[in-house]
Amino acid sequence: MKLKSLMIGVAALAFSAAAMAQQPIVIKFSHVVATDTPKGKGAEYFKKLAEERTKGRVKVEVYANSTLYKDKEELEALQLGAVQMLAPSLAKFGPLGAREFEVFDLPYIFDNYADLHRVTEGPIGQSLLKKLESKGILGLAFWDNGFKVMSANKPLKKPEDFKGLKMRIQSSKVLDSQMRALGAIPQVLAFSEVYQALQTGVVDGTENPPSNLYTQKMHEVQKYVTLSDHGYLGYAVIVNKKFWEGLPADIRTTLEGAMKDATKYANDIAKKENDDALEAVRKSGKSQILTLTEDEKKAWKKALVKVHQEHEGKIGKELIQSIYKETGFDPSKL
Ligand code: LMR
Repeated sequence: MKLKSLMIGVAALAFSAAAMAQQPIVIKFSHVVATDTPKGKGAEYFKKLAEERTKGRVKVEVYANSTLYKDKEELEALQLGAVQMLAPSLAKFGPLGAREFEVFDLPYIFDNYADLHRVTEGPIGQSLLKKLESKGILGLAFWDNGFKVMSANKPLKKPEDFKGLKMRIQSSKVLDSQMRALGAIPQVLAFSEVYQALQTGVVDGTENPPSNLYTQKMHEVQKYVTLSDHGYLGYAVIVNKKFWEGLPADIRTTLEGAMKDATKYANDIAKKENDDALEAVRKSGKSQILTLTEDEKKAWKKALVKVHQEHEGKIGKELIQSIYKETGFDPSKL
């Protein structure tokens, strides 16, 4: 009798061990934007590749639109291991103590995607990602969004037009200085709160690439959108270091391959996603789209370039100079 129950017990244990062995490894991938954006689509594509290539041994759960966590909380959740993967905007790493990342927020430091990729895909990008390791984070890739527009309920054509406007920003010291240099009053708000803040007049305006503006319907509560391209917004795809390093080696290698391909996909679609979103804003007729003349753009650059110097100390003069070298940006020529 005793022997029989022992055998049943052993069999039950073996069964649950086998069942456990078949449980997929779950990667929660949380982000704050809509699915229909470069980041949202990139996350879905990574999920598809990861699940196909690991033949179901990995399950990627993508939580879009801040359904799990808002901006700052998601980084804390990753460090605690409550989520395994995120793609926060580069601006979000400054408050974590990685101030070098604020270099990406400097106004007009990048003119186009090609300039930017020379930095993110080269040694500077790699050394920046390394800086996250001491915070329990591994940086896997840079994903593009695009160049920012400014929006408000009044036309923003000249720096003077910003005077006294409350402008929503991400929590970045550089973006704070940028808005102040234009005479505006910066207000930090989580991304998920921006639409309502614009609608109720808590803030007057904001900045973001067109894909974020359009998918959050910000254009429905902003009368004017200026194509200023005054700064870049992009992401680092990051994972909890302990989790990633604890994965079986074959799985990790497969996931690295999936991330490489998802990165190419996300970066290939980013510009078109933004162009299409802008076209959709235009078609909606809810916001008027304003372009800047060469002279107007020059006036914006002149007003904003001092932000570079103001943040040299915290970001690192050498880092800023090394990026100027890659992009050809020369503040003395403005
Ligand atoms: C924002 O907060 O404006 C952006 O970081 C949102 C995003 O992730 O694109």
